[in-house]
Amino acid sequence: MGDQRHRIVIVGTGLVGSTFAYTLLLRELAEEIVLIDKNRAKAEGDALDLNHGIPLARPARIWAGDYPDCAGADIVVIAAGVAQRPGETRIDLLRRNVDVLREVLGHVVRHTERAILLVATNPVDVLSYAAWKLSGFPPERVIGSGTLLDSARFRYMIGTRLGVDPRSVHAYIVGEHGDTEVPVWSLATVGGVPVAAQTARDGTAGLPGGGLGPEEREAVFVSVRDAAYHIIAAKGATYYAIALALERICRSILRDERSVLTVSTLVRGEYGIDDVYLGLPAIVGRAGVEGRVHLPLAEDEVAALRRSAETLKGLIRSLAL
Ligand code: 2OP
Repeated sequence: MGDQRHRIVIVGTGLVGSTFAYTLLLRELAEEIVLIDKNRAKAEGDALDLNHGIPLARPARIWAGDYPDCAGADIVVIAAGVAQRPGETRIDLLRRNVDVLREVLGHVVRHTERAILLVATNPVDVLSYAAWKLSGFPPERVIGSGTLLDSARFRYMIGTRLGVDPRSVHAYIVGEHGDTEVPVWSLATVGGVPVAAQTARDGTAGLPGGGLGPEEREAVFVSVRDAAYHIIAAKGATYYAIALALERICRSILRDERSVLTVSTLVRGEYGIDDVYLGLPAIVGRAGVEGRVHLPLAEDEVAALRRSAETLKGLIRSLAL
């Protein structure tokens, strides 16, 4: 990182925003962390609490700030808005959160033209598209957390079933971060071997336990798709894994890692889909979205991705941006 100081501004210090700030401190990613919340006391309390950990972690500047602090930001993470209550879908939040986004961006863009906007608020794909439109920023610099979290859940569940480290599982969930998301089974591998059960010509199973059969694959997918509902029913909200996902995206940006991450970005013609934000593997680096890995999807996967895109486009149209 050299002498360059990195600043991340977090707008919205609810459970996701504040857990993300803590994750940034632990992971030593940014030298400056600014917390903005309409409840100023909450942001101040979080800043104090985090600052008291600095002697036990490492030097950083963390403060409760305001929108002018966006001027020096490398990344502005938007985690403001209402979260799902038990039984609600992410889409149920749209009306309330698009108003929040409008207000937040009105302030943010007055103070920065160079920051990368990273949207975490749900429904994240529609709000990322709205953030792109409302900010006037180039699409490369408006990113949604997309299906990075879903892909992590997918890898975790596949790894657990097969008894391998989830980091050795290459597998993506694409499309909406929500009920229409699509598991890309056709390209899911462990050590280069397809996850879908198969045996080599000599009868040897490719993976421990022989890989996953159709029923197991369906069970894995359903548990990934519905994971947030179960967690919200159990404890009211999800925040640890999304905080790590946001940190992962910020790290790839600030350290120019060019990692391939399933973030939500503008789709322009791929798979016959146009003018919508959704999760697909993108190359994420210092300039934001720097390229795309084009997945050679199976036919049924393309069809499912198009359905997911149509759902999101319908919602975008309803916003009249
Ligand atoms: C999640 O998937 C609720 O979108 C949030 O954890």
